[in-house]
Amino acid sequence: MELLPQIPDDFVSLILTDPPYGIAYQNQYTHRRHPLLAGDDGIDYERFAHECYRILKKNSHAYFFTRFDRYPYHYLCLKRAGFTVKNCLVVEKGTIGGIGDLRGSFANNAEWIIFCQKGRRVFNRTTLLQNRKKEGSCFRAGRKPSQRYKTRFNACWFGPEYPKATYNSTWQKRHQIYHPTIKNVEFLSWLIQLSSEPGELVFDGFMGSGSTAMAAVLSGRKYLGAEIEPAYFETIHKRLRDIE
Ligand SMILES: C[S@@+](CC[C@H](N)C(=O)[O-])C[C@H]1O[C@@H](n2cnc3c(N)ncnc32)[C@H](O)[C@@H]1O
Repeated sequence: MELLPQIPDDFVSLILTDPPYGIAYQNQYTHRRHPLLAGDDGIDYERFAHECYRILKKNSHAYFFTRFDRYPYHYLCLKRAGFTVKNCLVVEKGTIGGIGDLRGSFANNAEWIIFCQKGRRVFNRTTLLQNRKKEGSCFRAGRKPSQRYKTRFNACWFGPEYPKATYNSTWQKRHQIYHPTIKNVEFLSWLIQLSSEPGELVFDGFMGSGSTAMAAVLSGRKYLGAEIEPAYFETIHKRLRDIE
């Protein structure tokens, strides 16, 4: 929140960020308890939304992770800041989570991501998902023949063809990278490939373990961001050193 005012207007080409939700998150059902997240008693989301709008280039995309109970407030702040909110992506998590009431609430198996535009930008053509139909086949006479790769994605990403949104604790143990809300780099890189060009600058103001920066580098983009917790900052350095 201190870095944002130092960034010039229209400076970054894509925002892909996962701010603390203001829910004092703690997983009670793990042997390895994570410390409470900094800012999880709530950041100034209204200011954050305005700053994000200001620093994003015109005709660019922005993705903000959220949760169902924070969605109305986050949506309102992003609209008020000037963004056009285009969709809320609902993406299968790598693991289920909940908010405590195991017998009286549904297990949460999805991440919610608010997809916004400043101005208008169309998605890039990618080779991320193949169409089921054979390339060149015509569904109906007079219609364009089908393309090999999908050019339009669903707003809900469930099933084996899509990467999951988060890494589970088994992944964390195997890779010795610990963070309570770590996201899947492959999933983030799909969003980066759809919404930015190689060499462009991707911003994440709440880097956590650095998943967005990892996805940016692996997709040939640059990154800019901040993480307030020194231990997580070290994790980011280590992960980036390993790939760079
Ligand atoms: C939801 S997590 C992000 C997790 C990340 N997407 C990942 O894959 O690891 C939010 C992060 O924001 C950090 N944070 C909280 N307040 C902050 C602030 N004012 N400036 C920078 N980072 C902050 C927290 O320490 C936490 O690591």
